[in-house]
Amino acid sequence: MLAQPSLENLVRTRRIVVCVGSGGVGKTTTAASLGLSGARAGKKTLVLTIDPAKRLAQALGMPHIGHAAEQVAADKLAAVLGGEVKGTLDALMLDQKRAFDEIVERYTQDAAQRERIFKNRIYQQISSSLAGSHEYAAMSKLHEIANQKQYDLIVLDTPPVQNALDFLEAPERVTAAIDSPAIEWLVRPYLAAGHFSLKALGVGASFVLGRLGRFVGSQFLEEMAQFFVEFNAILGGFRERAREVFNLLRSNDATFVLVSSAEAPAIDEVLAFSERLRLTHMSLGGCVVNRVHERLPPQLSRQELIDELSARPELRGFSLDDIVQVAADLDRTAREFSLLAESDEKQIARLVRGDVPLVRVPYLDTDIGDVAALGTIVRCLMGDPKSVTRLE
Ligand SMILES: Nc1ncnc2c1ncn2[C@@H]1O[C@H](COP(=O)(O)OP(=O)(O)OP(=O)(O)O)[C@@H](O)[C@H]1O
Ligand SMILES: [Mg+2]
Repeated sequence: MLAQPSLENLVRTRRIVVCVGSGGVGKTTTAASLGLSGARAGKKTLVLTIDPAKRLAQALGMPHIGHAAEQVAADKLAAVLGGEVKGTLDALMLDQKRAFDEIVERYTQDAAQRERIFKNRIYQQISSSLAGSHEYAAMSKLHEIANQKQYDLIVLDTPPVQNALDFLEAPERVTAAIDSPAIEWLVRPYLAAGHFSLKALGVGASFVLGRLGRFVGSQFLEEMAQFFVEFNAILGGFRERAREVFNLLRSNDATFVLVSSAEAPAIDEVLAFSERLRLTHMSLGGCVVNRVHERLPPQLSRQELIDELSARPELRGFSLDDIVQVAADLDRTAREFSLLAESDEKQIARLVRGDVPLVRVPYLDTDIGDVAALGTIVRCLMGDPKSVTRLE
């Protein structure tokens, strides 16, 4: 019999789970919680994270998490998951610059060339701030670790992007930026003369570059041209790595979990991303709608609320007028909350797909920075009946 689609089943059967979503929706929290679930399912698990919130890292007992994998202590796992845990959870924080350097190291032929690239200011700039280089580095690290076959499950937390689709387009953007006709145009005189020379250019190009040189300095142009010449030699490596990562993400080993809020633009984005996954033959493993407003239980009447508040010892000494005011405020907040819950449900209904688990995580009134809050998220993701819906 086929197992029902669920996130629990996902962490049991897949080797790579990539959490994507736009900025601040809860990717890191979800990735950590899926990692914890993997450990609970007995897996040797790694969460490859980008920038874990300090409180989350502290809750897992690893405030100084770095570029080398570090294991979450067994007693922490037991505290979050409520009982003895057979698997393990390692966490590793991606150092983007270092991940880039590792690719250069891998593909450069000699030490002198590597040093020239590392020293080049343009490289330093590109490896840390070119659009897409974060995502490229994350995918590359994922590929490297997946190849080592040291873990049963790797959960990748992706960098904050404005738009979740940016993640999939990143490798293309990085290689295109380094490999564009404009750059070639810049590199040509360098190649012809062995150093940056305006003479080797046609009149038009020489005029433009001459003017440009006045703004940015010819030293800068020289460094730029030199960088692209050096980098051109290893660009094939960058492209090859991007291809390999794509093949890995397309394989049966990997699946995506889309994290979103319940707001209309966020749901639009999830739909666009899942379509993009379908077109590129990548698997959509689940959707997590985070910070969902829950419908409040049936309300007390205004008079019942006033009676209840008046009986509270902490409100003793308050005048009846004050209590009536507090009751009115509470009533209004409850009604606003119910409206939000209704609007959330309408949006979530747009994600209906019988074959993909859709999980709601409620808006918790604390930050996810302690063992109890993390435990709650794990339970929601893993099938607390109230939070999991499979809409047909
Ligand atoms: N269900 C929830 N209820 C309350 N707070 C939450 C919930 N989920 C996440 N948070 C809080 O929201 C903040 C953002 O969450 P998180 O860091 O997981 O988002 P992110 O998508 O990784 O953000 P970024 O795009 O910046 O990396 C954190 O402070 C986290 O504790
Ligand atoms: Mg994050």
